[in-house]
Amino acid sequence: MALQSKLIQYPQLLLIILLAVTVTLQHVAAAADELQGRPQQGMWRPGCRDKCGGMSIPFPFGIDKPGCFLPGFEVTCNTSSTPPRAFLAYNYPNPPYEVIDQSTFDAAGSTGYTARYPPVELFDISLETSEVRVYGGVTSRCFTNSTGVFEKGEYLTLDMYGPFLLSPRNDLVGVGWSVKSSMSYQIKPYPDPLSCSSNSPFRLAAPNGSCSGGLACCQIPLPPPWPNLPVTETAVILKAGSNFWETNPCSYGMVVERSWYNFTSEDLNGYEVLSKKLSRGFPLVLDFAIRNGRCEHDACPSGNSSCVEAANDREGHVCKCWDHYQGNPYIANGCQDIDECQLREQSPEFRDLYPCDGICTNIPGGYDCRCKRGMKGDAKKGNCTEIFPLPAKIIVGIAGFIVVFIIMIMAKQRQKLKKFYEQNGGPILNGVKNIRIYTRKQLKQITNNYESVIG
Ligand SMILES: *[C@@H]1O[C@H](CO)[C@@H](O)[C@H](O)[C@H]1NC(C)=O
Ligand SMILES: *[C@@H]1O[C@H](CO)[C@@H](O)[C@H](O)[C@H]1NC(C)=O
Ligand SMILES: *[C@@H]1O[C@H](CO)[C@@H](O)[C@H](O)[C@H]1NC(C)=O
Ligand SMILES: *[C@@H]1O[C@H](CO)[C@@H](O)[C@H](O)[C@H]1NC(C)=O
Ligand SMILES: *[C@@H]1O[C@H](CO)[C@@H](O)[C@H](O)[C@H]1NC(C)=O
Repeated sequence: MALQSKLIQYPQLLLIILLAVTVTLQHVAAAADELQGRPQQGMWRPGCRDKCGGMSIPFPFGIDKPGCFLPGFEVTCNTSSTPPRAFLAYNYPNPPYEVIDQSTFDAAGSTGYTARYPPVELFDISLETSEVRVYGGVTSRCFTNSTGVFEKGEYLTLDMYGPFLLSPRNDLVGVGWSVKSSMSYQIKPYPDPLSCSSNSPFRLAAPNGSCSGGLACCQIPLPPPWPNLPVTETAVILKAGSNFWETNPCSYGMVVERSWYNFTSEDLNGYEVLSKKLSRGFPLVLDFAIRNGRCEHDACPSGNSSCVEAANDREGHVCKCWDHYQGNPYIANGCQDIDECQLREQSPEFRDLYPCDGICTNIPGGYDCRCKRGMKGDAKKGNCTEIFPLPAKIIVGIAGFIVVFIIMIMAKQRQKLKKFYEQNGGPILNGVKNIRIYTRKQLKQITNNYESVIG
């Protein structure tokens, strides 16, 4: 009896022990990963500051000292504000810089002019997309009274030979009852300025949120050849007599990251409403590239990365980590393998990006995904199916049960037989010479199937 109950208990015990071992192993692996800490290694040059405030400054961008950045990629970090703010370093009159000029006019003509050239504030650097995002200004033209006009130009000046170019991911936007917003630049041959116009003689505004129909708001994407133009200037031309200076004195123009500006009729009412809406300005996207040199064999210092010629027809290149690698392709050993499986555990966003309906294993340059035990199919596509469907499992289960049952009965019978053999002096008889013990089969033969009696 004890043997039987042990037989039943054993498989369960084994299973529990196996489970415990795998769980412990998994814990050990996780702990090892935690210990290593997986720091974002190789994003910065040794001895260089990696951050300005909360913003990461990866090489070729850098702060403070030569050697921490490539030419044109210097960033200044102004720590007198909280949190500190980052700017593209510049050395007037060498761009990049912001131009803020202000003019006043009355009926007789110009009555005043001032200009400032502050640095361009940086708020995002992406090595993955080779883009930076900066705060751009809003150019405005407002009536101050029935004859007086105040005009403020806020625009970016970029170096023709520097790393930065206006990205085609921006729009030119104009806001006003009747306004022409245009961009001009100082490059020869002078191309036609890009412009858009709104005209609402009956003071119909575009619906909130969009900027369609040329009603009180206009918007036009920067076409792809435009990023080649190094200098951008947004000018707003107010059409005569189009404003009602008491209630809607201003018109606005700006270059802004696509889909960032949402029109609202509120922006039409009041003095300098749009230009004061955001204290630092509207986001503007700039492409960057290393301008001195095309892709050569050692243009990108990191392994696991490749060099790409700059996105426009100006000389230059950018470096990209290969797919499934991350880090900084601009420094040695900068691109490291992404552990997709670990990321998957961290957030649902990565579960969508790296699909796996099974057992995920990280491998250099990707990840492996196999169906769980007892299943087959493409686990990355999520179509794992059971190798044995349920009915088959039931049949196999029942068959197995029957086999076990038969074995148990046979074992019992054997035991019984042994008992009888012992009870009837089997071992003693066996020990005695001249006595022959017949097996059941032999007896059956001799007795002619138990029909004839033997003496
Ligand atoms: C830092 O910012 C403050 C104002 O926030 C300004 O007065 C100062 O000139 C800036 N310093 C530098 C070095 O640009
Ligand atoms: C209109 O405003 C300007 C400056 O904003 C001022 O110089 C001018 O005198 C004003 N004109 C009238 C008629 O109030
Ligand atoms: C647009 O939104 C403003 C408030 O943000 C509201 O006052 C105005 O009535 C809205 N205009 C339309 C056409 O819905
Ligand atoms: C503009 O509107 C879109 C859609 O309604 C929204 O997703 C987006 O966040 C808005 N942008 C800003 C800057 O408010
Ligand atoms: C390439 O990636 C692998 C996996 O992360 C890493 O071990 C190796 O050091 C990288 N090679 C270089 C040259 O960075």
